[in-house]
Amino acid sequence: MIPTSTSTSKCLAIVLAFAFGASLAYVEGAQYPLTESHSGTGFFDGWKFPVEPYDNTTNGDTFWATAQNTSLLYVNDAGRAVLKVDNTTFVPYNEKRYAPKLFSKNTYGPGTVFVMDAVHVPYGCSVWGAFWTQGANWPAGGEIDIFEGINMRKENMMALHTSGGTCTISSSSSMTGRVDATDCDQSANSGSGCTVYDQNENSYGEAFAQAGGGVYITEWTNEAIRIWFFSRSNVPSSVTSTAENFDTSSLGTPTAEYSNASCDLATLFEPINIALCGDFAGLPALLEQTCPTLAADKTCYTTYVINDASQTYANAYFELNYINVYTTNSSASGDLPSPSGIGKSTTTITAGTGSRTTSGVAGGATNGTTNANSSAGRNTIGRWGLAGLVGLAFGLAL
Ligand SMILES: *[C@@H]1O[C@H](CO)[C@@H](O)[C@H](O)[C@H]1NC(C)=O
Ligand SMILES: *[C@@H]1O[C@H](CO)[C@@H](O)[C@H](O)[C@H]1NC(C)=O
Ligand SMILES: *[C@@H]1O[C@H](CO)[C@@H](O)[C@H](O)[C@H]1NC(C)=O
Ligand SMILES: *[C@@H]1O[C@H](CO)[C@@H](O)[C@H](O)[C@H]1NC(C)=O
Ligand SMILES: *[C@@H]1O[C@H](CO)[C@@H](O)[C@H](O)[C@H]1NC(C)=O
Ligand SMILES: *[C@@H]1O[C@H](CO)[C@@H](O)[C@H](O)[C@H]1NC(C)=O
Ligand SMILES: *[C@@H]1O[C@H](CO)[C@@H](O)[C@H](O)[C@H]1NC(C)=O
Repeated sequence: MIPTSTSTSKCLAIVLAFAFGASLAYVEGAQYPLTESHSGTGFFDGWKFPVEPYDNTTNGDTFWATAQNTSLLYVNDAGRAVLKVDNTTFVPYNEKRYAPKLFSKNTYGPGTVFVMDAVHVPYGCSVWGAFWTQGANWPAGGEIDIFEGINMRKENMMALHTSGGTCTISSSSSMTGRVDATDCDQSANSGSGCTVYDQNENSYGEAFAQAGGGVYITEWTNEAIRIWFFSRSNVPSSVTSTAENFDTSSLGTPTAEYSNASCDLATLFEPINIALCGDFAGLPALLEQTCPTLAADKTCYTTYVINDASQTYANAYFELNYINVYTTNSSASGDLPSPSGIGKSTTTITAGTGSRTTSGVAGGATNGTTNANSSAGRNTIGRWGLAGLVGLAFGLAL
């Protein structure tokens, strides 16, 4: 998810770094026993819904789907879990569109591997989907963005978000991804986190789906956080929903690696929840990078979200084979405080650079409508954290 902050004073310059020393491929690895598997008809048992009825943390234009919204959250004939944005309702101006967001019931600590196997991830103009971890007291608890894609981009973006301490991408790390910002601290880079783009265009969007999807794997230890992406044809045969153990040593060089050589992983990351989340990315400059230029009198909201959006959101869905968790950390379980206690601030993505400025909402539970006519056009998004025990989350917002 995109980071937010309550204070613009936390925004600093973006550091770009593309130079990485060649180093040994990752070969350490470890064995992790399977502790959770979410798939098929039981998929939705492992998740909970936001307590708030609409996106009150991000000025978004969504009502959060509930368990009653079985047209948006269901298991399809192929036995896959689907989470989708409503594309059948005519939404009048100043109203919101239904979209799902889920949080894992369990929490996790270091010594854990998360595996998400999808055949489709959400994309389309104004669409923002993500799968990330969040702690209870963001940003103190840190955050791992495993999958995040907006609009018609072609690549997945990964990131860490931390607060305090030291956390940057180590020049000694070995990874196949392209580093875009090295400082993970929420106060740097306008809160973008330390971002790494997959260079594989099958990692997001239409090409991801056309390739049959793929698998995102995250290993979280006190030594490093590593993320791998494998397009369907490259998924190692050992990576299956039924594998009782997971061995990361066979995966090769990760797509992104955040090592403790330059990041205090042991103290900056609390246990997490897995969150699958999707949001709609509405900042004109970002939007217009991969979607048509907005008409002069139009915003992202008025162009895409309202009225008939059946085709706009025809691809705004996750279709998941399974999400597995493997952990050696026995303290990883239990529940985090309500997700609504997280991400109370908002962030505005600014045009062009992908950087973001922040705007506190002063506790204001706006219901998104206040942004409908802003010059930027419903461009604020939510923000969640991960540190210590975390959970997982996923979903879609407008
Ligand atoms: C969002 O709504 C929930 C439930 O009503 C509430 O607990 C929470 O404080 C609200 N968040 C904000 C930022 O207003
Ligand atoms: C979602 O469920 C709510 C009631 O919980 C209902 O009012 C709304 O129309 C539903 N939306 C969709 C798209 O199913
Ligand atoms: C909040 O949203 C609801 C439904 O979308 C709308 O009826 C209401 O007028 C909005 N309130 C404000 C203060 O914008
Ligand atoms: C397990 O998770 C807890 C909570 O985050 C953490 O304090 C502990 O160090 C972890 N154990 C190991 C072996 O990493
Ligand atoms: C950092 O990782 C190394 C192994 O790469 C390990 O020996 C060391 O204990 C780790 N440091 C901390 C603080 O966990
Ligand atoms: C609505 O979305 C579904 C996928 O969720 C898609 O199959 C359908 O074609 C979309 N409707 C239109 C009119 O594009
Ligand atoms: C937003 O703009 C539209 C079109 O210009 C206008 O009709 C509407 O009244 C405006 N809404 C608000 C809340 O300013």
